[in-house]
Amino acid sequence: MIFSERIRYPFELNELSKLIEVKDKNNLINLAESNPTKAGIIYEHKILNYFFKNDNLKYYPDPKGIKEAREAVLDYYKLKGVFISLEDIFLTSGTSEAYSFIFKILCDPLDNILIPFPGYPLFDYLSSLELVKTKHYRLEYFHNSGWKIDFDSIVQSIDKKTKAIVLINPNNPTGSYVSDEDKRKIIDIAKKNDIAIIADEVFFDYNIDDKVYHSFAGNKDCLTFVLSGISKILALPQMKLSWIVVSGEEKIKREAIDRLELVSDTFLSVSIPIQNALKDFFLAGEIIKKNIIERIKENYLYIKECVKDSPIRLLDTSGGWSTVIELPRILSEEEWVKKLLMEENCLVYPGYFFDFEREAFCSISLIVEKDILIRGIKSIENILQKYQI
Ligand SMILES: Cc1ncc(COP(=O)(O)O)c(C=O)c1O
Repeated sequence: MIFSERIRYPFELNELSKLIEVKDKNNLINLAESNPTKAGIIYEHKILNYFFKNDNLKYYPDPKGIKEAREAVLDYYKLKGVFISLEDIFLTSGTSEAYSFIFKILCDPLDNILIPFPGYPLFDYLSSLELVKTKHYRLEYFHNSGWKIDFDSIVQSIDKKTKAIVLINPNNPTGSYVSDEDKRKIIDIAKKNDIAIIADEVFFDYNIDDKVYHSFAGNKDCLTFVLSGISKILALPQMKLSWIVVSGEEKIKREAIDRLELVSDTFLSVSIPIQNALKDFFLAGEIIKKNIIERIKENYLYIKECVKDSPIRLLDTSGGWSTVIELPRILSEEEWVKKLLMEENCLVYPGYFFDFEREAFCSISLIVEKDILIRGIKSIENILQKYQI
């Protein structure tokens, strides 16, 4: 066969995607919308002015990204009380690219990385494109204390080919952060087994429960890569700018940086105008972020209020852009989600998209406009009423 095995053909749309294809998108009550530029968020026009700079006519390639842009990232961490060095920062054109760079420097074909279940579904693609395998560890939900990492499942999954453990902090779609205590345990496991930590903190600033959590950035105890970017923290996914912060014991960190530099120098993918605008984006983005934090808190409370005397159960969510509801298991996830779509024109994502261990869960975006949320929750109530035994 002429083509690589890493991409499996034919590409089949899943059942739900086929149904969505034929729906009238304009009338869809989209509770799965996670694109902030489609969620009625106000972006000031002045953001576009940041591109009118003479410097944008010059090209100064730097595999790490230009100094001024990395300074903006450094300042972002300084405000969190995290002190890193400019030399530890790499700009990339998205978090997916950041993952691919890290997988390239850590993994040979068929090595594996550990990912959380439930979790972000893009990992299967990101890893298989790099010929890397994924193994999973569990997050378990407890009614009185929320999501917890199952540490036994981490230890059991680690083998000789494991190169890294991925933490999504807070996780998508469960909205659970890594507590300080769990952070310590993860670092100990990583050190003991000589594996790296990859902490994806794209949603870190969207805290709902107002507890204090700490970034993995600057962790010196083992090789650590922290990923973030402006697609989420400033709600500017169209600008395509993310970063990696490398830390660890000095010698291994140095080696990781040298290797990342080589990969990044091969692509040099982040455009100069975006890098030149980053400092200004951070200033302008504060208000966007503040508005989204207000919206996700308000939306979460609204759902909580709506479901309190209903058979719908809202799971504890500490942060991020999504939450999870559990529906009675009189129907399967697939059946609930299809009925909602076909009979109420309302889209939610089923738990199996994110590898929930059991049914029937649905993920709901918290960044949607309030009127969409109100109509969506009403649709869920309607469908429950119709099919409750
Ligand atoms: C956990 C997580 N990481 C990364 C991304 C993608 O980020 P980017 O747009 O920077 O590639 C997403 C997108 O939803 C995500 O959920």
